[in-house]
Amino acid sequence: MKIAVAGTGYVGLVTGVCLASKGHEVTCVDVDENKVKIMKNGDSPIYEPGLSELMKEHKNNLVFTTDYEEAYREAEVIFIGVGTPEKQDGSANLSYVFEVAKQIAQTVQRDCVVVIKSTVPIGTNDKIESYIRDKQKNKDVCIYVASNPEFLSQGTAVKDTLCASRIVIGVEEVFPGEVLKKVYEKFDVPKLIVKRRSAEMIKYASNDFLALKISYINEIANLCEIVGANIEEVTEGMGYDARIGHRFLNAGIGYGGSCFPKDTKALNWLANFNDNEIRTIRAAIEVNENQKFKLIKKTKKYYDDFLFLNVAVLGCTFKPGTDDLREAVSLVNVPLLLEDGANVRIWDPVGMENFKKKYPNKIQYCNSIEEAITDADICLILTEWEEIKNFDLRKYEKLMKKPIVLDGRNCYQLEEVKKTNITYDSIGRYTVNPQ
Ligand code: UDX
Repeated sequence: MKIAVAGTGYVGLVTGVCLASKGHEVTCVDVDENKVKIMKNGDSPIYEPGLSELMKEHKNNLVFTTDYEEAYREAEVIFIGVGTPEKQDGSANLSYVFEVAKQIAQTVQRDCVVVIKSTVPIGTNDKIESYIRDKQKNKDVCIYVASNPEFLSQGTAVKDTLCASRIVIGVEEVFPGEVLKKVYEKFDVPKLIVKRRSAEMIKYASNDFLALKISYINEIANLCEIVGANIEEVTEGMGYDARIGHRFLNAGIGYGGSCFPKDTKALNWLANFNDNEIRTIRAAIEVNENQKFKLIKKTKKYYDDFLFLNVAVLGCTFKPGTDDLREAVSLVNVPLLLEDGANVRIWDPVGMENFKKKYPNKIQYCNSIEEAITDADICLILTEWEEIKNFDLRKYEKLMKKPIVLDGRNCYQLEEVKKTNITYDSIGRYTVNPQ
């Protein structure tokens, strides 16, 4: 099928490339000429395992362009995968989605289905359909709008798309549903056809449930520290109950990324706007905001302030496997350390270039974990990269001025740390070698 995809971020580009891999003719459109140039050269502008390879393998089915008219004019299906960033009040900014809708209305020359992949508030698909039908230049063609939310995670986006847990299709009529079934014909995964508003809600409710699960376990972890239980033993015991499951029960210093923070706030906003507060979501947001300061609070046990302290920060991305810094806890913690006069040294395998753009001065960017921790008074672990998990614990002892490691992602087994002299303070577990 002839498909166009608007937006080449995580959602748009991964969708486009995966659809091309199933034999569709896909044209990906972006306003950013630089990005388009990179993609035309066969490279991916985002760091996502497997994506470049798939792009190269299916290059004959892929076109990248800034020319939306060319892309939309004859497309049978147009996916919208542009961003819906958070506004000041927490609601979703839909201006990019509507901009694409306007372009579609002006250019489409054949019946087509416009598929909203971007996460949008409930009722937005209806609005977009009316908007397009109202503004469409060629009144002889019929344009349908369908909701098809994305559930991919960064770092596993290709796998999450090709082997999705489910494909949700939200439609009001039979025709767009049939078209989308054809688009996903070669995806051997459960497909669910529902009404558009339900599809929009499935996306928010799923993401916010996962965020809630993390905030819940973080609160349990905080209590574990106080009452002397171990969160890892607790979650292992909980997870065997199939109704709970083992996944998304990792306690830490809070969730970040492009989805959970934004989508919890957007649903919270929508609920309040409708005079129907969802208290559990509000609680998930508040718990997460506090959790981000967990390590900073812990440092007070060891030092009165950070003035002239050498602080090693390991990991700055919001999770491993991505160079994305959106809502990363490092963006809250590092400025605080700097403000308090610490000498900050950062190591991250892929995120430092992006961090440098925000903080070009004042921070020492290191090429290895060893370099970052040498002579450090304290070390803060913010992302659970494999390189950190596999790091030889003895090196903390050997290289740091004082081997105090505060681990916000529970990277090490307590039994292993016990064999060293490191003071190791993690989340929801007892402190090894307390001072
Ligand atoms: C998430 C959803 O998983 C995905 O389905 C949705 O489409 C987009 O949002 P993503 O933001 O890429 O994906 O990352 P995810 O792996 O879900 O992690 C989000 C944040 O939660 C990270 O900061 C991570 O560190 C944190 N997290 C995750 C925890 O703190 N504990 C966990 O057990 C799992």
